[in-house]
Amino acid sequence: MNLRDLPIYNPYSDAYNSLFLTKSEVMNLTEKDNPIDVFNSWYTEAEKTEINDPTAMSLATCTKEGRPVVRMVLLKGVDERGFVFYTNLGSRKAGELNETPFAALCFHWKTQRRQIRVEGAVERVSDEEADAYFATRSRLSQLGAWASKQSQPMDGKWELEKRVAEYTAKFNVGEVPRPEFWSGFRIVPDSIEFWSDGKFRLHDRFVFAKEGEKWNVTRIFP
Ligand SMILES: Cc1cc2nc3c(=O)[nH]c(=O)nc-3n(C[C@H](O)[C@H](O)[C@H](O)COP(=O)(O)O)c2cc1C
Repeated sequence: MNLRDLPIYNPYSDAYNSLFLTKSEVMNLTEKDNPIDVFNSWYTEAEKTEINDPTAMSLATCTKEGRPVVRMVLLKGVDERGFVFYTNLGSRKAGELNETPFAALCFHWKTQRRQIRVEGAVERVSDEEADAYFATRSRLSQLGAWASKQSQPMDGKWELEKRVAEYTAKFNVGEVPRPEFWSGFRIVPDSIEFWSDGKFRLHDRFVFAKEGEKWNVTRIFP
């Protein structure tokens, strides 16, 4: 940005006032707002405008040495209990979550210029919940879950293709059950931050922090 682009400090000038949103545009979240409801409403907007994968979120875990590790996963469920994703229980992330059962999530919806950050403890979803979700997956995705030894070394793509063929033959035309080594994790949030882009980097940020059963909300500097 060129310095000349900055509005002159004159509170009566249009340029200076253009820094600020009109009263109806000012984002305001209060104790009356439930962060899961706010998440759902922002997600509904993002779903209309994101080109693909509005459920994509980065998932940060931690090694036992305290090194952070991050990768993308897809959100497969959200409610008052938390944010759910599914994965291979032999994967690197699952190992890290078993050792350090805390995680952070970050959604970035570019088309909305919005970010949501979630932090909390992690728990496994119940077998019934995982079974119900697995049953909704396409047959090829179900077979893929059986075939992939996620995060393990692989000699070549042929090895994966061979394993997909083996499981295709094994289950033939029958139902594909959920592998025991494949399930979901729920991030139980104790902090959810909403970030919305503002003019001249005067962004809005609201952090909901859980105290007991109650969510407290604080506006913080961008
Ligand atoms: C957009 C996107 C969505 C993904 N969703 C998932 C997912 O829901 N579950 C999963 O296990 N891996 C998913 N992956 C792959 C992971 O990013 C990662 O490569 C894989 O889970 C292995 O990670 P790990 O070795 O840290 O366990 C996704 C990747 C991308 C780019």
